[in-house]
Amino acid sequence: FQTPMLIPPVMPRAATIRQRGDKPVDYYEISMRQFEQQILPAGLPATTVWGYGAKAARSNRGLLVHHAPSLTIEARQSRPVRVRWINELVSADGSYLPHLFAVDQTLHWANPPGGTGGRDSRPRFTETPGRYTGPVPMVTHVHGAVGVNDDSDGYAEAWYLPAATDIPAGYATEGTWYEFFAGQAARAYGVEWGPGFATFQYPNDNRAATIWYHDHALGMTRLNVYAGPAGFYLIRGGPDDVVLDSRTGLAASLPGPAPRENDRFPSNKRYREIAIAIQDRSFNTDGSLFYPDSRAFFDGIVHDYIPDGEFSPIWNPEFFGNTIMVNGNTWPFQTVEQRRYRLRFLNGCQSRFLMLDFNRIPDVEVWQIGNEGGFLAAPVNLTANHENRLLMGPAERADVIADFTNVPLGNHILANIGPDEPFGGGEPDEDFDHADADTTGQIMQFRVVPAVEIDDSTPPRFLQLPAITPLPAQTHTRQVALIEKADEGLDEQGEAIEGPVEALLGTVTDGVWTEREWTDPVTENPGVGDTEVWEIYNTTADAHPMHIHEITFEVVNRQRLLLDESQEQVVQPIQLDGDPLLPEPGETGFKDTVIAYPGQVTRVRAQFDTAGQFVWHCHIVEHEDNEMMRPYRIGPRQP
Ligand code: C2O
Ligand code: CU
Repeated sequence: FQTPMLIPPVMPRAATIRQRGDKPVDYYEISMRQFEQQILPAGLPATTVWGYGAKAARSNRGLLVHHAPSLTIEARQSRPVRVRWINELVSADGSYLPHLFAVDQTLHWANPPGGTGGRDSRPRFTETPGRYTGPVPMVTHVHGAVGVNDDSDGYAEAWYLPAATDIPAGYATEGTWYEFFAGQAARAYGVEWGPGFATFQYPNDNRAATIWYHDHALGMTRLNVYAGPAGFYLIRGGPDDVVLDSRTGLAASLPGPAPRENDRFPSNKRYREIAIAIQDRSFNTDGSLFYPDSRAFFDGIVHDYIPDGEFSPIWNPEFFGNTIMVNGNTWPFQTVEQRRYRLRFLNGCQSRFLMLDFNRIPDVEVWQIGNEGGFLAAPVNLTANHENRLLMGPAERADVIADFTNVPLGNHILANIGPDEPFGGGEPDEDFDHADADTTGQIMQFRVVPAVEIDDSTPPRFLQLPAITPLPAQTHTRQVALIEKADEGLDEQGEAIEGPVEALLGTVTDGVWTEREWTDPVTENPGVGDTEVWEIYNTTADAHPMHIHEITFEVVNRQRLLLDESQEQVVQPIQLDGDPLLPEPGETGFKDTVIAYPGQVTRVRAQFDTAGQFVWHCHIVEHEDNEMMRPYRIGPRQP
């Protein structure tokens, strides 16, 4: 706990576009670059990372420009944001920068050398490919954005290369869907594509919420995001941002302020509304990021039972780092006064479920007021009702008020008692070993000092959160499945063997599940305006954080599935076992990512309003990259 936590400053706008008769549009030019960042404590080597930042560097005003995680985009509800996303992985002489990590070319991946935009052009396992040293495909997705046109959503095959001078001959500079969207682009909205960039527009139709943005390139999201490109995107304003004080019926006051555009950096002490991105990472001794390039040894988890042979040589089923990085520094500290703070947490880890544990902060009182889709139906007292804990799957967000008023002066640790391995649900120590107490079991430190002014924020128990309008009844119920299976192949002697576990999505008919790969035809095709319930049947042994693009959903309920005698395998055809389980109090309102527990069906309800082709996937990014992602289509639009 040597480094003060960075509170991400606000991304500077390039311009506000005003057109007669149209809403003003906030316009940004954001590039992704490679640079050095002091992630480890001072005195240890710096780390080469990638991150987004404002293209026109204004560092002369003390503004931080490129950082990992990146600066926060501040958006107003229903006021459009337009972003020119520039792939600037180019060195000073104009040549491209290669990837920091080993790209597994046997997955369905963006694959510029395939020259076809990556459509099923992967080499077979038998053609063990060499290391990919070419230019890096990327495409940005705003995670949780509602009502976006598909040409702006960052479809995984709509990637593009940097505008470098030395792109090898025969390489595709963009994916198949780049061409499709570019051909269809609604230019009235300003959507544009060009060499090394795409300009996307977001209507910000969401309720006021904590959303975020990150790279989404096919089959390499885990590698691209691990290198750094991710940031917060906060939507404020509108009727769903109006919180009342139940004692007076007047506007309540939430802890603040948050950073504002053009605040000087660093100015961390006066902020009381703080976005906190938690990500696990591992490092080599020279300070560079470690990501496995084989399965021989995997940072504490040994996958050497996976034989050599015809298998994807690099991909690992999950990744668990051995350090915790918070807003871009390992194990930072934050000074807080004895008063209330609003903390917007993001689990930005690759595979790791976090169970934040506030019990090592004596007499703190913690309330959850929001999740991915904005405010909950009512504040939830985590201290009184949930043992002071907060479970977050990868990509989930939690808007929390932490009251330090009665916390003794001094240094206190925010702990993590989630597992250092895949999460199957249940309780720490009973059902799984909690994270290593000396390393990943610690997130950050709060240094509590006396309050210098009166805290006039409304006590959380008096917060009356905006009313939740329930969705209409569903017109269709869809049954989908989460599936894991061992890759099958031949070893070096030609014997049939099982390889690493592959994670897949599928459909369910008459209780029987069928796996579907990324390149299989679309099976989920709601009509425009339809409300549907998706029943997600998890036939695997682990929990998966399931994310659907374009919409937010209500969590309807969960229900157990009958298991066979081993108590490990879901019986096929599927049979329900017991009564539906209500959503957790932190799952009220609307979400974009939900934990699907093993041996359960998780039901969500959503209304699908904007025609186009989007994706749904597991947000364990190692799963997402090896087949646990599927296209889905709203309405008839298709290539
Ligand atoms: Cu956060 Cu499809 O992603
Ligand atoms: Cu998964």
